[in-house]
Amino acid sequence: MSTSPNTILDRTPLIAGNWKMNMDHVQGTGLLQQLAVCLTDAEHDYGSVEVALFPPFTTLSVVRSLIQDDGLNLVCGGQDLSQFDGGAYTGDISGQLLARLGCKYALVGHSERRTIHGETDETVNAKAKAAYRHSLTPVLCVGEGLDIRQAGRHVQHTLTQLRSGIEGLNSDQAATLVVAYEPVWAIGTGEVAGPEDAQEMCHAIRAELTRLFDTDVSAQVRLLYGGSVKASNAAAIMHQTDVDGVLVGGASLDATEFANIAGYERQATP
Ligand code: PGA
Repeated sequence: MSTSPNTILDRTPLIAGNWKMNMDHVQGTGLLQQLAVCLTDAEHDYGSVEVALFPPFTTLSVVRSLIQDDGLNLVCGGQDLSQFDGGAYTGDISGQLLARLGCKYALVGHSERRTIHGETDETVNAKAKAAYRHSLTPVLCVGEGLDIRQAGRHVQHTLTQLRSGIEGLNSDQAATLVVAYEPVWAIGTGEVAGPEDAQEMCHAIRAELTRLFDTDVSAQVRLLYGGSVKASNAAAIMHQTDVDGVLVGGASLDATEFANIAGYERQATP
């Protein structure tokens, strides 16, 4: 099947806020209320993008309820999920529990999970499959550390993570996937990869998805960049051909800043 320009245009930009281990349920409520005001401000029309929030598990329920009660144009997701569906897994949260709360997404393979919790590519793959079992869309995080970038092996490394992460997915699943390229050296450091670095990697990821599936699938997959994204650099990143969104950590904790990222279209084209 050939790829129509419309298929490509249908990649609704995704602006995702990863609150990490911040914002208890009271603080999260406050942030969401501020965000609702900033986002609906005419200055920051965000109607053409999808905005997703990833609060900590303890804050997810209140965020989800507020979104629903106030009819906010926002969706939410889990920062992680178990590869198992339920049972004796103390401390873990299953896809089923997230789906039950009305989550749409689940982050899988965030570099902090890989580094701090020792998640392997196999675990990440199992988590991606668990997400699909519960009708959640996995946001598969991939990206290289500084040593790998300096050695010039960043594309090879990231594509290996990609292939392992999506191993065994069928075309229908792969077409709905979201992949977040997050160079580890740019996360929370203030170091941002240049827009052209984001484009280089997102282009390589899309080409790899074409090779593994076909252009019809690869043209539908949304590719995000993450790593020190702010309102001041979001537009330049978002204007790259293969970049369909951003995964924002620190800057998502500031309502005005995050709303300005979601309203990147109103910022001067670089
Ligand atoms: P950062 O985090 O925006 O604070 O760099 C991004 C992420 O880890 O998803």
